[in-house]
Amino acid sequence: MAQRRDTYAENMGRNSTEAQRLDEQFELITENIGYLLHPSVRSKLPPNARVADVGTGTAAFLRSLSHYHPNATMHGYDISTSLFPPFSTLPPNVTLYLLDARQPVQSTLWAKYDLVHVRLISAGLKPSEWPSIIRNLTRMLKPGGAMQWEECDFTAVRHLACSPTATTDTASYMGRHFLAGMMHHFQNGWNRLTTEMRAAGLKEVHTEVVAADRVYATRPRLTANGMVAIFAWARLASARGDEGSLTMQQLEQLERKAYADIQSGCYVTFDIHVAWGFCAS
Ligand SMILES: C[S@@+](CC[C@H](N)C(=O)[O-])C[C@H]1O[C@@H](n2cnc3c(N)ncnc32)[C@H](O)[C@@H]1O
Repeated sequence: MAQRRDTYAENMGRNSTEAQRLDEQFELITENIGYLLHPSVRSKLPPNARVADVGTGTAAFLRSLSHYHPNATMHGYDISTSLFPPFSTLPPNVTLYLLDARQPVQSTLWAKYDLVHVRLISAGLKPSEWPSIIRNLTRMLKPGGAMQWEECDFTAVRHLACSPTATTDTASYMGRHFLAGMMHHFQNGWNRLTTEMRAAGLKEVHTEVVAADRVYATRPRLTANGMVAIFAWARLASARGDEGSLTMQQLEQLERKAYADIQSGCYVTFDIHVAWGFCAS
């Protein structure tokens, strides 16, 4: 089968800094959502559940879930192994594999999982890929199994001041610059989840939307974490010479100012969408 492009790597890079950033981002977004699994999903998960996490990255979801479900069998899948932690550091019930979610899932994985989970895969997908990808991953569910998927609406990203003395200009500018380059990816996903889950045959499909700044204490770290992603992307775009990209020199100056904004009390907000549904029994 023809190898497709690893779009995520082209936009976000893959290295140990990105792995650390993803782990922190996972923790902060989970804190703002308020749960790892929605109660209606959690209540149906058997103790010896088989769980798949697609676009697993550093396997943060499975590492967290394994604390509560030590007897579950957990499989993480990703288009690249480069963000995987060393296998020796993983809980014994977690195993990681290569899988491109845009390719038809092999039949040996059909109807094998009580839970299929996905978080934040939109940077790696094109708008047209959402229906087939959700249909594709639904095939992995056992009858009665659950799918839970979280995506952020970065199209509405805003950098706000938490006090009258806070400055936001450079952070806001960089947020808009990032969005202009990534709009193609970010305008889809969060707004397609429930429709495409229902179209794929899932039942009892629901969604919940929370603000990324809901837990005040997470604001400074989540804002700085997002800024790391923004500058990593901007440097990749600059190195490629993308249209509208900034020079490395400009980026260095802007980076100092953006972090000064954050230091002064500038914080980021956007919506986090959680959607879940169940395969018919
Ligand atoms: C933003 S990271 C999120 C990682 C993890 N889900 C989390 O929340 O920390 C996106 C992950 O999706 C993976 N990814 C992107 N496109 C993919 C695809 N077509 N199939 C499988 N994984 C993919 C990337 O390699 C990356 O590890």
